[in-house]
Amino acid sequence: MPGIVIVGAQWGDEGKGKITDLLAERADAIVRFQGGNNAGHTIVRDGQTWKLHLMPSGILHPGKLCVIGNGVVIDPKVLTDELDELRRRRVDTSGLRISANAHLIMPYHMMLDHAGEAKLGKLQIGTTRRGIGPCYADKAARLGIRVQDLLDEKILKKKIVAALEPKWHSLRPFARDPRLDLQAMTDDYLTYGHRLERYITDTSRLVLDKLDEDALVVFEGAQGALLDIDHGTYPFVTSSNPVAGAACIGAGVGPKDIDEVWGVTKAYGTRVGSGPFPTELEGELADLMRERGGEYGTTTGRPRRVGWLDLVALHYAARINSLTALAVTKLDVLSGLDQISVCTRYRGAEGAEFDYFPYHQSVLHHAVGEYVEMPGWSEDLSECRSESDLPAAAREYLAFVADFVGVPIALIGIGPSRDEIIWTEASRGMAGAAPVVS
Ligand code: IMP
Repeated sequence: MPGIVIVGAQWGDEGKGKITDLLAERADAIVRFQGGNNAGHTIVRDGQTWKLHLMPSGILHPGKLCVIGNGVVIDPKVLTDELDELRRRRVDTSGLRISANAHLIMPYHMMLDHAGEAKLGKLQIGTTRRGIGPCYADKAARLGIRVQDLLDEKILKKKIVAALEPKWHSLRPFARDPRLDLQAMTDDYLTYGHRLERYITDTSRLVLDKLDEDALVVFEGAQGALLDIDHGTYPFVTSSNPVAGAACIGAGVGPKDIDEVWGVTKAYGTRVGSGPFPTELEGELADLMRERGGEYGTTTGRPRRVGWLDLVALHYAARINSLTALAVTKLDVLSGLDQISVCTRYRGAEGAEFDYFPYHQSVLHHAVGEYVEMPGWSEDLSECRSESDLPAAAREYLAFVADFVGVPIALIGIGPSRDEIIWTEASRGMAGAAPVVS
């Protein structure tokens, strides 16, 4: 102990990579527990930008244990490419460990993801097309190929044949695609296996041993609470559980191993892909916030939908994740606005009002935000290093958010680089907080 889980408290892209990178500095181990290369972390360090999709953010800290847990779905091509790139940039990757039980994204998963979205037409989910959903579907159907299968040609081939068998009808448009050739696919995956072999192990045991040693373990979530397959805006969700409870399942630890849960939220809202977004903005203001915040997907480059901060949804995220701390990122993007709106309630069809996040899909689709208007600020925040440096209006805004959600704010992001951050008074004493400099 202690174990700290970092989760997205919105629709993903909250800036979890940067927060994990900060906490990773003091952590002994960093563990990814769900999702795959649908995620994208951008980390700015020493003037260099890193875009990681599968690798735990802690990999940039040499010698730390960096685990890809059993709950992650791995595209081995993406993982080996990331390893090559890190090595090319002289990053020590010796701390990486990959769960032998993690499932593999196969070429046919990507094909099925494309075909599924094409079939849905206008109703498409807007997936990242990385094969995430079909891979988790095979896991649940017990047709998945796992990392450990890469180490045995006979087993690998047999499992690929079994996995492909019920899919041939859906894969008809790809019948001539060379990636579906059984021998070629087996050979490719065996090659990945050889390259990854030295990292493959029982990661659950490794992480439990670390916790027994009283080490600081950070569990790094991908996506966000509202994309959770059980608790998000289904069916416009990802196919895993980005909520904190999934850290236990996806890393192989118990609920008592988690001491703190940090929820990361932007100071406003964004969403990529389809689905309800009650505080969505359009027009000039949305364009301004999108440009200022660089709101384009790390993985797909798609422009993100932009909106005001939704406290109904954030309060919900705080409850389903048992958040103990909030990290608010990108506060600087709001600088220069005369007025800032913050959503505290939804209005549904026929005037119904909702103080809590509605469970029903149709209700949510018609929900629009009702707002409290707060004064903006014009000052540049980039030099602020403590809460007292912030303009009064910014402090008021943050206090309103923390009070409404009932969770203290531990960290405030005021720019992209790792030093553009404020550790708050409330963070003192938290396991993940910066050591107090006296
Ligand atoms: P999938 O995870 O690729 O199946 O996509 C399902 C939904 O989750 C789509 O709306 C995606 O845009 C969204 N999504 C998946 N990963 C991320 C992420 O890392 N950030 C934001 N949205 C994501």
